[in-house]
Amino acid sequence: MRLNRDVVIIGAGVTGLTAATQLRSAGLSVVVIEARDRVGGRLWTDHVDGQLFELGGQWVSPDQTALLETLDELGLSTYSRYREGENVYVSADGTAHRYTGDIFPASAETQAELERLIALLDTLVAEIDPAEPWAHPRAAEFDHVSFRQWLEQQTSDAEAIANIALFVADAMLTKPAHSFSLLQALLMAASAGSYSNLVDADFILDKRVVGGLQQVPLLLAESLGEDVRLGAPAASIHWNDNGVTVSAADGEITVDARYAIVAVPPNLHSRINYVPALPPLRQQLQQHQSLGLVIKVHATYTTPFWRADGLSGTVFSPFQLVHEAYDNSNFGEERGTLVGFVSDEKADALLRLSAEDRKQRILESLAAYYGPQALEPAVYYESDWASDYWTQGAYATSFDLGGLTRYGALQLEPVGPIRFGSSDVAAEGYQHVDGGIRVGRRMAEEILDDISASAQSASTQSASTQNASIQSNEGAQA
Ligand code: FDA
Repeated sequence: MRLNRDVVIIGAGVTGLTAATQLRSAGLSVVVIEARDRVGGRLWTDHVDGQLFELGGQWVSPDQTALLETLDELGLSTYSRYREGENVYVSADGTAHRYTGDIFPASAETQAELERLIALLDTLVAEIDPAEPWAHPRAAEFDHVSFRQWLEQQTSDAEAIANIALFVADAMLTKPAHSFSLLQALLMAASAGSYSNLVDADFILDKRVVGGLQQVPLLLAESLGEDVRLGAPAASIHWNDNGVTVSAADGEITVDARYAIVAVPPNLHSRINYVPALPPLRQQLQQHQSLGLVIKVHATYTTPFWRADGLSGTVFSPFQLVHEAYDNSNFGEERGTLVGFVSDEKADALLRLSAEDRKQRILESLAAYYGPQALEPAVYYESDWASDYWTQGAYATSFDLGGLTRYGALQLEPVGPIRFGSSDVAAEGYQHVDGGIRVGRRMAEEILDDISASAQSASTQSASTQNASIQSNEGAQA
């Protein structure tokens, strides 16, 4: 099948579908080519043993205004995460401590260090523009030191370091704090408004969508109708300054278009064959962005037993296999669901175990927070995105040490008629659905601007040709 469109979009995640919707409503013809047999990419709401789980992204925070607008437009409603009662923090010796308020129970010295470091990070974050962190006057210095090294330069309090690192390393970038830079950490926090916002579960994990967040891509795709093609991995893009030809679905679909948007995570850009090859620095860039690793664990119980015990369900510890977990019961549900996360090197270790041993270790870690009842879920599931061929990790990509200052600006530049973008290159909402929507909107606007600039230059050119021919006629008459 040969299709002809103004814009071909590769990837039916929230980024690609937002771009397609915006371009379509501006009057352009589009087609979205999706490798999987479903839309949504890293958003996937599905049933496991009759239980509805958010296998991918799920939470919405109050600063994510692009996502909130989209939810409104699509008529989707939200509800608050359950958070009544006491939280639990497990200290290095394995003791569970109940607490309320902002800071977990630790010695007075550690608490003071935590407050000092959070204030220091908030000050640095306030100076960072998430749209161009590389433009900060000290960007190179911040990009050449690992987040862990920098924390070790600020304090010798090991518990403070472990906890400050946790909220960027384990909880967000899902990479060890020695493997990414201070600048990358500051970008992560700046994209959410401040470091304080990142550590505030009530802010960053505020709301969920009734029925699941995958409804966003599902509803966007529904209105695009037949212009979304599933089960169609894009294999190659032939391109020149005038347009592209994309081959997908083992050659069954060929699309000729004026522009292409590659709305897939950066770690998958190189899976597509570009003819001619992309410029050398672009090829280098692709090798400096990688996906983090996190296993999202879902455990549903016959009742939310922790609530009866006075617990909110919010728990965390840098010393536990499951470094954070929450009450994740669905809207209106009588059973109780917990969601927990195992990141980076802890996840490496788990993925080497058998499924049975993995489950046992994870449930034991949940029991360290919630007590022995956590060992007996009625439904249990691990979302393992690392083994998903069309993602290969979670939640998103980040740069290696020094990569942001070297290649950060380049990742936003088009190559001829091809634009690359996903939530992984967002400023506000970086690594989140909100960021994907913003990137989708930006790429659509850039294409529309490009088209109107070309139309304007064509009309100026034709006016000046007309003028020249009038003048030469007048000359001939004289
Ligand atoms: P995404 O990866 O979703 O879409 C890319 C699409 O391209 C995919 O559908 C893929 O199949 C397709 N594709 C790839 N290669 C292709 C090819 N060659 N040809 C055709 N198609 C191709 N966010 C948030 O806001 N709140 C949250 O709570 C969470 N939590 C969370 C948990 C987990 C476990 C994950 C994995 C992720 C999150 N996130 C999140 C992140 C959020 O889900 C993510 O940022 C966005 O969904 C990314 O959307 P994109 O469209 O940018 O990429």
